[in-house]
This record gives sequence, structure tokens and C-alpha cells, in this order.
Amino acid sequence: MLKVSNLYINYGGIQAVRDVSFEVHTGEIVTLIGANGAGKSTILKTISGLMRPKSGLITYEDQPIQNASSATIVGAGISQVPEGRHIFAGMTVQENLEMGAFLKKRGTDMSSTFKDIFARFPVLAERKNQDAATLSGGEQQMLAMARALMAKPKLLLLDEPSMGLSPIYIQKIFDIIQSINEQGTTILLIEQNAKQALSIATRGYVIASGEIKLEGTGKELLGNKQVQSAYLGG
Ligand SMILES: Nc1ncnc2c1ncn2[C@@H]1O[C@H](COP(=O)(O)OP(=O)(O)OP(=O)(O)O)[C@@H](O)[C@H]1O
Ligand SMILES: [Mg+2]
Repeated sequence: MLKVSNLYINYGGIQAVRDVSFEVHTGEIVTLIGANGAGKSTILKTISGLMRPKSGLITYEDQPIQNASSATIVGAGISQVPEGRHIFAGMTVQENLEMGAFLKKRGTDMSSTFKDIFARFPVLAERKNQDAATLSGGEQQMLAMARALMAKPKLLLLDEPSMGLSPIYIQKIFDIIQSINEQGTTILLIEQNAKQALSIATRGYVIASGEIKLEGTGKELLGNKQVQSAYLGG
């Protein structure tokens, strides 16, 4: 579904991503794990068209997208939940969700989409008329995910969805990711929380200093000694 080949990404003269290649197949949950500054968010931003690579190829459903606009990429079925959520303050929960569907044709009936979203995220239904800025951190994360789902993506890119959340919310977020996947959305997940990410992942890649160092199934990486000592707390 998504194929990244020999990707190099620079910030000015600084090389942030070096010769990265990986694939996401339809139906998978693929996770990228790695320490702070490894280049994970840079890769995700480049897939969603917010940054341009220096070289390399990104294909989605066999079409090159590395020079496509973000709007084209969302339209093709890729939505991103950025690191740090970026919900729109001063807008209600409902209005935030409407923004997620901004590419849908005017006049399209959104009521069934809202129904699905509110069934999955009951807390958002309860708070749909509340200013999004007044939601708790965990609720904002739910909103960011729900907003991305409003576009009905085929591929969902998640950048550290569990960041800053309490254990109970972390578990909730991982359960939701799994159920979104089971209902047919392919997922590319970036996480610091490597143990939980690998537990739900079909496959994973370990990134350090902008390069892929290891790859395997979620299970293989969970059992890997190097991964255990570097990312799973020994
Ligand atoms: N706008 C920028 N200008 C210059 N350097 C940047 C910029 N954004 C990121 N970098 C650098 O690129 C490297 C990769 O950053 P990136 O945000 O992709 O890391 P990450 O793996 O997502 O880390 P984290 O887990 O902390 O979010 C880092 O060394 C970072 O300092
Ligand atoms: Mg990051």
C-alpha cells in the first residue's frame, strides 16, 4: 500500500533521515520505534506532504506521492494525527471534527460519519459543544484521532498518540488503534511506548540516527535482545 524507498531528508544542511526504506501492506499495523531525534516525525511529515525529501521515492497504491500536496495526499486516503495533537482552540469538538472532513464535497451528508465517530468516542459526543481547548489531554488525543478518521482514511499515520497520557488512557488509545485497524484501516504508528506499540504491531522498524537498524514482526522485535535493552527497559 505504502512503499518508502531510499528516502533522504535534510533540514538545511543537516541530514535527518538517511537511506530509509520500508513498506506498509494493506491491513497492517506497522510501527516505527526509536529514541528522541531519531527522525520518526520527519518521515511521517514527508509521507503526508508537509516536507519534501532530498531524494528517494514514496509510493502509495503504486502512485508516487513524494511531490504531491497535502490535500492531494489526504484526498488519496492518507490522514495524519500529528505529534502534539494540534486541535483547534476556540472551536467546539464538533467544529474540530468538521475540519477533518474539509475535503468532502459541500452538501455531503456527514451524519452517518458523525454517528460512527461518536459511537467509537462517546466522550466526544458528550462534549461536542465544548471548546476543544478545554478537553483534557487524553480527550484531546481522542479528538485528534477522531478528526483524522472523519476523512475516512485508508491509511492512518499516528505520531506518538500515547504521549503524555496516564496508563489508563494509554491503554484506551492502544485499544482504539487496534479496533480502527480491525475495521479495515491500515496504520503506521510512531511510538516511544515501544512495548505496547510492538504488542499490537504486525511489523516494526527500529530507527536510530535517521537510519533503519532493525526490522521484524512485532513479536520478533519484542523478543530481540538489542531492542529490549535499548527500548524496552532491559
Ligand atoms: N525544523 C527543523 N530544523 C532543523 N532540524 C530539525 C527540525 N525538525 C527536526 N529536526 C532535527 O531532525 C532530527 C529528527 O527529528 P524528528 O522530529 O524527526 O525526531 P523524532 O524521531 O520524531 O523524535 P521524537 O521522538 O523526539 O519526537 C532531530 O535531530 C531534530 O533535531
Ligand atoms: Mg517525533
